[in-house]
Amino acid sequence: MTNEKFTNIVIAIDGSDLSKKAADYAVSLAKQQNAKLLAVTVVKFHQTDAFRGSTSTLAKFIRKQAEIAENWTDLVRSKAEKSGVRFESRVIKTNASVPEEIIKYAKGKKSDLIVMGTRGRTGFKKALLGSVASAVVTHADCPVMVIR
Ligand SMILES: Nc1ncnc2c1ncn2[C@@H]1O[C@H](COP(=O)(O)OP(=O)(O)OP(=O)(O)O)[C@@H](O)[C@H]1O
Ligand SMILES: [Mg+2]
Repeated sequence: MTNEKFTNIVIAIDGSDLSKKAADYAVSLAKQQNAKLLAVTVVKFHQTDAFRGSTSTLAKFIRKQAEIAENWTDLVRSKAEKSGVRFESRVIKTNASVPEEIIKYAKGKKSDLIVMGTRGRTGFKKALLGSVASAVVTHADCPVMVIR
């Protein structure tokens, strides 16, 4: 029998309503399990963005996105704090793959559960499972809980 208690729960946030709903589940699960909650948001930029404007435009764009992302994780932080759940958060800026960054972060934090939404902000409504959720479910080293 494996250890069925979760100790480090990662919540992946992209600002969508569904990821906020997933965060509520993650907070209450972390409380029940006396686990630590780790919120992660990946700010993805494309290398080609650099060619559209100047590098400082790109830097400004990334900074703005990271600021917005921090507001999302702050929202989860306040809910975690209210519930007495230990919390930390990270905003990752990358031009690489979003799911790969989530998986790498979870692995580095020795996470034993990743919580996320089935869909996010960027997809079409009719897709049942977004590409980030699908790739994380497929490739993560730990269990994944997808909230719908
Ligand atoms: N950049 C991100 N950083 C952190 N978590 C993310 C990010 N993007 C998506 N997620 C997580 O994955 C869940 C599913 O989102 P996903 O991106 O797979 O679907 P989508 O946006 O509807 O479709 P797609 O991105 O494939 O067009 C979100 O609810 C969120 O929990
Ligand atoms: Mg998406």
